[in-house]
Amino acid sequence: MPAFKELVFSGVQPTGNLHLGNYLGAIKRFVAMQAQFECLYCVVDLHAITVWQDPAELTRQIREVTAAFLAAGIDPARSVVFNQSQVPQHAELAWIFNCVARLGWLNRMTQFKEKAGKDRENASIGLYDYPVLMAADILAYRATHVPVGEDQKQHLELTRDIAQKFNNDFSAAIQQHGHGEAFFPITEPLIGGPAARVMSLRDGTKKMSKSDPSDYSRINLTDDSDAIAQKVRKAKTDAEPLPSETAGLEKRPEADNLVGIFAALSEASREDVLREYGGAQFSAFKGALVDLAVAKLGPIGAEMKRLVADPGHIDAVLADGAARAEAIAAPNIAAVKDIVGFVRRR
Ligand code: TYM
Repeated sequence: MPAFKELVFSGVQPTGNLHLGNYLGAIKRFVAMQAQFECLYCVVDLHAITVWQDPAELTRQIREVTAAFLAAGIDPARSVVFNQSQVPQHAELAWIFNCVARLGWLNRMTQFKEKAGKDRENASIGLYDYPVLMAADILAYRATHVPVGEDQKQHLELTRDIAQKFNNDFSAAIQQHGHGEAFFPITEPLIGGPAARVMSLRDGTKKMSKSDPSDYSRINLTDDSDAIAQKVRKAKTDAEPLPSETAGLEKRPEADNLVGIFAALSEASREDVLREYGGAQFSAFKGALVDLAVAKLGPIGAEMKRLVADPGHIDAVLADGAARAEAIAAPNIAAVKDIVGFVRRR
């Protein structure tokens, strides 16, 4: 595999409240990546409309996710922050990838099955095709690294399969046009840390999710200190005190989840947390978790509020980001069109 320039890409959907899972599994890690990589962070509004979105509400949510990025510490001068619909190369490449990806590959996608539920006939074609657009998001920039939560793992495997098949199917043309052995990198998913899969506060076997009907299942980035405290105190636990070692968290999903959240918020490991709190009762541990969560999330929520009050500023950040993103994607997609064999307009 030839060397590709290191580039990070990731995306977040503007659909419903951003929660602690989105923050710890993704956004907090996006912030850290900026020190090491050139990064693009995208509000994936084209993905959002795979299920019905009220237009005015969608506009609001796009700005709110952008505000969350900025409030969490993504620096728009350094990283490229933009919304997907404003860079036409995503949709263009998705069409070409539709002709590379196989029906059988998409039929295996578990997230489609979950989201479409029983009424599959009534799901949009976009919902089914969602992972192909995701591959196009990443590969339009020939991104080498993608930080995501664990739930996106299968989609990233599909991205790698599409890149591989494109490189194989067009290998002669890729060489002919001077791109060497492969046009697309085989992107590395970056899934990790103690909070790669944050679970519901009401049921440690279910993922924390925007679509859970119970607001007590999740901590939203916009929750105030009282709401955070209430939700942590009400979080489901078991009757035992915390173990001193991680082996003792097995078969205790709620304890494991709270320890993982504590670890991720304090930038420590589960081992570190248990070294300090092993033997503690949940009441004491939850008290410490409330203080930590309020200290870390409070300022982000407050800054989000301040930012969304100035949509002009957010829109300017997005416009600048879209122009910079397009400057990277446009030559890549022009090259793809040459490789596929389309005649260029003069
Ligand atoms: P989305 O909007 O559902 O979630 C955004 C990010 O948050 C992570 N995440 C979690 N991490 C840990 N625990 C949880 N409970 C949890 N819930 C969500 C997700 O893994 C994700 O990283 N398909 C993507 C958006 C997307 C994308 C892309 C991502 C579109 N194109 C290209 C990367 C690269 C999604 O729906 O994420």
